[in-house]
Amino acid sequence: MKRVDDFRLRLGNKEYVPIMIGGMGVDISTSELALEAARLGGIGHISDAMVPDVSDRKFDTSFVKEKTKLYKFNINNMDKSVVQFDLDRLAEATRLHVGATMAAKKGDGLIFVNCMEKLTMNAPKETLRTRLSAALDAGIDGITMSAGLHLGSFELIKDHPRFRDAKLGIIVSSVRALQLFLRKVSRLNRLPDYVIVEGPLAGGHLGFGMEDWKDYDLHTIMDEIHAYLAAEKLDIPLIAAGGIFTGSDAVSFLEKGAGGVQVATRFTVTHECGLPDSVKQEYFRASEEDIIVNGVSPTGYPMRMLKQTPAIGSGIRPGCESYGYLLDATGNCAYINSYNREVQANPGQKNIQVFDKTCLCTHMRNFNCWTCGSTTYRLKDTTHKLSDGTYQILSAEHVFKDYQFSVDNQVALPPRQEAAA
Ligand SMILES: Cc1cc2nc3c(=O)[nH]c(=O)nc-3n(C[C@H](O)[C@H](O)[C@H](O)COP(=O)(O)O)c2cc1C
Repeated sequence: MKRVDDFRLRLGNKEYVPIMIGGMGVDISTSELALEAARLGGIGHISDAMVPDVSDRKFDTSFVKEKTKLYKFNINNMDKSVVQFDLDRLAEATRLHVGATMAAKKGDGLIFVNCMEKLTMNAPKETLRTRLSAALDAGIDGITMSAGLHLGSFELIKDHPRFRDAKLGIIVSSVRALQLFLRKVSRLNRLPDYVIVEGPLAGGHLGFGMEDWKDYDLHTIMDEIHAYLAAEKLDIPLIAAGGIFTGSDAVSFLEKGAGGVQVATRFTVTHECGLPDSVKQEYFRASEEDIIVNGVSPTGYPMRMLKQTPAIGSGIRPGCESYGYLLDATGNCAYINSYNREVQANPGQKNIQVFDKTCLCTHMRNFNCWTCGSTTYRLKDTTHKLSDGTYQILSAEHVFKDYQFSVDNQVALPPRQEAAA
């Protein structure tokens, strides 16, 4: 019986434990979490989602305050097209977050940053170029392009001195998306160093339709992509992601030729994860029926979350003057339209409710959108229930090593610690 540790992920001329901890914005996959993966010989992701806000919390900068002050005049205006990101400040925030993480790195693993294309930030091309370039400037080991097809993303950084030395990868959910991407980058003579194949059981946004995500299965998509790469004689490691809960689940992909696996849900209940402890307990307590896929994300992608998430139905005023990460190239966001509709339908009412969309920036920032993977209801089986009724939070090292060394679909429980009196 094989275990994950019998395999290695080869990137360039180095080998790693084939476990990646996936990027989880906003600062759910913290530097501390990513650093543990790297220390243990695997690959950890930080995320650059809302990085000015992350920087303010970590480094005492005041990027958000300054932006809010600058655009205060527009707060009651429903046209948000004037609200722009200052590219120099965006670069500075990225460099602070990435730089501090890289400076703390120990061990033989790698740290990557997850960059979502759907964070269009009212100037999609310019802001993405700034984010990618600043991460490379600050010494990131690699960039995972996610939440979008990224057809122009390599082009944006092709002149960066680290374009060919940093590891660059993409997340896809179909062979078609990969084909489109590879066609686009072929003229740059620069293939991705790895491809993460994310199936329909993952946390966060899903790369499938709202109606048909259930019809897909990660093993089948992996097989299709393996076959396509073999036919094209392309040797790019594939990383399987979504619903991989045990070391044995991971081995089932590695035995079929995957280079590695990307996992996230099991790390949401670790000390190093950025969710508040109270939210970690919500994840532990969740039952299978609590986990839903809905269309409340203004990105247009289906998103998986706990049905008791406070973001659902919340009718807060759009927070674009402070945030505005989902404003499209014309300065609009689907939540603004929904919010306006409800304001008009309920004149004079103070607390309105909006059910079809949510203000994802504000709610992710405040950890009020409890996005999660499909296996979240099994987290309670990975730890002890303490005498006060709460579940024992795990260490990232424990979970990482459980993936690395477990067999027979087993999950090792941590040494029991009683809650402080
Ligand atoms: C709480 C949470 C937040 C996530 N946020 C992001 C994100 O910001 N960007 C992204 O590309 N993927 C995101 N994901 C997806 C993970 O990186 C990962 O690919 C996936 O969840 C792996 O499946 P698993 O959670 O079943 O292990 C998120 C997942 C979770 C659980």
